[in-house]
Amino acid sequence: MNSMVVLISGRGSNMRALIDAGLPVAAVISNRADAAGLAYAASRGIATAIVSHRDYATRDAFDAALAQAIDAFHPELVALAGFMRILTDGFVQRYQGRMLNIHPSLLPAFPGLDTHGRALSTGVKLHGCTVHFVTAQLDHGPIVIQAAVPVLRHDDETRLAARVLAQEHRIYPQAARWFLEGQLVIEGGVVRVVGDYPQQLYAP
Ligand code: GAR
Repeated sequence: MNSMVVLISGRGSNMRALIDAGLPVAAVISNRADAAGLAYAASRGIATAIVSHRDYATRDAFDAALAQAIDAFHPELVALAGFMRILTDGFVQRYQGRMLNIHPSLLPAFPGLDTHGRALSTGVKLHGCTVHFVTAQLDHGPIVIQAAVPVLRHDDETRLAARVLAQEHRIYPQAARWFLEGQLVIEGGVVRVVGDYPQQLYAP
């Protein structure tokens, strides 16, 4: 199977789910030296690198350094896993069609931050997570797979986030595997999986 590089900024639980699923993670790159996920990757013998945004004066310069670090591993797939940086158009174009992101909402609802708080205050009855191809628009792009969870009467952000995160850990490895096995086709901005595999989960 072709390899992938995972970009993180912090905890790295989605990165861990990708590694633990046995996916061919060639390297984990973080923009923060204190990202907790780096230690787990290293403990599994996976190459790690830090490209700190603080070391670069412009977004272009940071993205160029990041691309250089990624390309050293010649990955087929770049997976953003809680990588909290806005990417330049040039960077997005470079990896167009081979960069995935996971986002903690049922896109196109609630792009950006504080998705669980906004889901609660809006009163939606279903919430969830999405894996999508990355485009120049933040938290937008062709949707590979979504998982929905119910928003329960006595939920708070912590409980809701935990329920969503458990589903993130299911759908991201699935989406990455589909990609690496060449099973994803994008037609007119819509992703379908070759074969009869469900692209949605409901976890009551
Ligand atoms: C995850 O919930 C991920 O969906 C979210 O950051 C968290 C990272 O957690 N990503 C975004 O909000 C992207 N817009 P993790 O480091 O434990 O995987």
